Amino acid sequence: MNLLTGEDATAMRLADPSAAPPSFATSPAPSSAPALLAPPGRRFIVQRAVRHEVPLLMGLVGPSGSGKTYSALRLATGMAAVSSGGPIVLIDTENRRAEHYADQFAFQHIDFAPPYGPLDYLAALQAAERVEPSVIIIDSLSHEHDGEGGTLDCVTAELDRLAGTDPTLQQRLATAAWRRPKALRRAMLSGLLRMRAHVIVCIRATERTRMTREPMATEPVELGLTPIAAPEFLFELTCSTLLKAGAQGEPCWASTLTGEHAAIKLPRQFVDVFRGGGALSEKHGERMARWASGEVLPPTGRRRRTRS
Ligand SMILES: Nc1ncnc2c1ncn2[C@@H]1O[C@H](COP(=O)(O)OP(=O)(O)O)[C@@H](O)[C@H]1O
Ligand SMILES: [Mg+2]
Repeated sequence: MNLLTGEDATAMRLADPSAAPPSFATSPAPSSAPALLAPPGRRFIVQRAVRHEVPLLMGLVGPSGSGKTYSALRLATGMAAVSSGGPIVLIDTENRRAEHYADQFAFQHIDFAPPYGPLDYLAALQAAERVEPSVIIIDSLSHEHDGEGGTLDCVTAELDRLAGTDPTLQQRLATAAWRRPKALRRAMLSGLLRMRAHVIVCIRATERTRMTREPMATEPVELGLTPIAAPEFLFELTCSTLLKAGAQGEPCWASTLTGEHAAIKLPRQFVDVFRGGGALSEKHGERMARWASGEVLPPTGRRRRTRS
């Protein structure tokens, strides 16, 4: 029996266009190979893809004063206008600073004090969900990483527990010390992904540099404004933008710097939403929420000139 790879098959057709398309081997694997069996009871259905209503997970990344909190409230106000009618709930790790905007926006507030372990975040999210919100704002997610009692603190505590003060043992067990904190982080992440409300996460960013790996290089490489959050959170964001220092809520959608690149995600369906530029606003939030509800957005932005 001939076993053909995809490349073999293409080559055959290129050589003789009249040749019938090759049929691929379906015979059982040679007896020496272990049989690959599907798990019993596992069934898969193939059906036409349809776009369902989905909750948004939007990231706002930037240094202090760039516009994360204010923009999150503006976007959330727009999203709430098209959603279930539930309130906006803001989970505030920043010493109640979001309440400075309480007379400009209508929202519920959760004062989230340390510790900032992943399960503490999960508890705050569950408290927020109890009021059936249309939007939850987490301001900020960064404390989950480097805040008091956050994941980095959990890793240090775990390392102390496993290795005590012995530096050699500490070095040997450095990876093992991440196991439990990572599992807790995964639990929080899957809780976050189960939220029915739209979620906006504010993430702090700092200017970072990294020493290059080139042997002769002496200059550090600039990474730019780098998000303070675990990559697994950034990976799950539906859309994410970078607010640079002093941006006053004006988003940045492109950068060649590695750190900044990690903060930016603009999927195709939202390109039009942000085309006009300007500070993040209720209008942007409203259009994003309309897409998330299943609507097909009409194009916006450039108007056609009419001849006089
Ligand atoms: N989207 C926006 N539209 C208009 N003004 C904004 C916007 N975002 C931020 N600003 C201005 O910038 C100031 C600082 O924003 P803030 O959200 O508090 O920063 P951060 O949370 O990043 O520290 C706000 O008080 C407001 O005056
Ligand atoms: Mg803020």
